[in-house]
Amino acid sequence: MAKTIVITSGKGGVGKTTVTANLGYRLAEKGHRVVIVDTDFGLNNLDVVAGVEDKIVFDLIDVIENKCRVKQALIESVNNKNLFVLPSQHTLIKSEINGQNVSLALNGLKDLFDYILIDCPAGIDVGFHRAVSCADSAIVVTTPSVSSIRDADKVISILHSYKISDISVVVNRIRGDLVLSGKMYSHSDIEKTLGVSVLGIIPESDAFILGIDDGITGIGAKAFKMLATNLIKNQNKKYDYLKEYSGFWGSIKKELKKLI
Ligand SMILES: Nc1ncnc2c1ncn2[C@@H]1O[C@H](COP(=O)(O)OP(=O)(O)OP(=O)(O)O)[C@@H](O)[C@H]1O
Ligand SMILES: [Mg+2]
Repeated sequence: MAKTIVITSGKGGVGKTTVTANLGYRLAEKGHRVVIVDTDFGLNNLDVVAGVEDKIVFDLIDVIENKCRVKQALIESVNNKNLFVLPSQHTLIKSEINGQNVSLALNGLKDLFDYILIDCPAGIDVGFHRAVSCADSAIVVTTPSVSSIRDADKVISILHSYKISDISVVVNRIRGDLVLSGKMYSHSDIEKTLGVSVLGIIPESDAFILGIDDGITGIGAKAFKMLATNLIKNQNKKYDYLKEYSGFWGSIKKELKKLI
């Protein structure tokens, strides 16, 4: 029976889709059967990040509207045969879709997969509730910025009102040099503020920014592998984002970063 995890945040643009795609890929790499589901209707981009946008025939809306069976809408990832994408490419949705509709569509996948990862839209309105109501656990993504942490805090309190058994946090886009110089919150500051354990720490990656990361197989690999292992083994080993800025060469690197 699949574990169904919603990847949410409150604040937009903090890395939900990136985390969904990369965590999915790393879980699949470890031999688990994974489906990543786009519930960001209208502003979908999980298909693009996962590199399957050219392969879409049916999507989640088609499944809900009974135009196809859920298996027909699944797309196998080119990167790993254990990873599938359930896209959402409709921009115009004729019918009113609620959480129950999405849950029903996903029910057909529960026996086929080990993990169902739901990419949630930003905000805390209809789309958020629709995605969250389908899940049994949640990963809240936040960056170390005050506004993102504040939104994560609000989202965590809303999640408590759902039947979500466990809630954890992924800190994305952290920079070791800025944490060391006291200009950015550390993962433990965030953990203390939110009162929820940090399951994963993903460093800021220039490769993402420059667009040279291919989405799900490139930079950030070590941190995402650690996140996947933590999830599988129910542990929370921390990715050491300070390491590259420690010691003699690390301090030089830290000083050089200030000049960029
Ligand atoms: N660790 C990172 N380092 C650098 N850039 C990142 C990192 N994580 C995500 N990004 C970039 O941040 C942008 C937003 O990421 P993403 O689309 O995953 O956020 P989101 O929370 O899903 O956004 P939305 O709320 O719009 O759905 C993307 O351009 C992505 O490549
Ligand atoms: Mg997104």
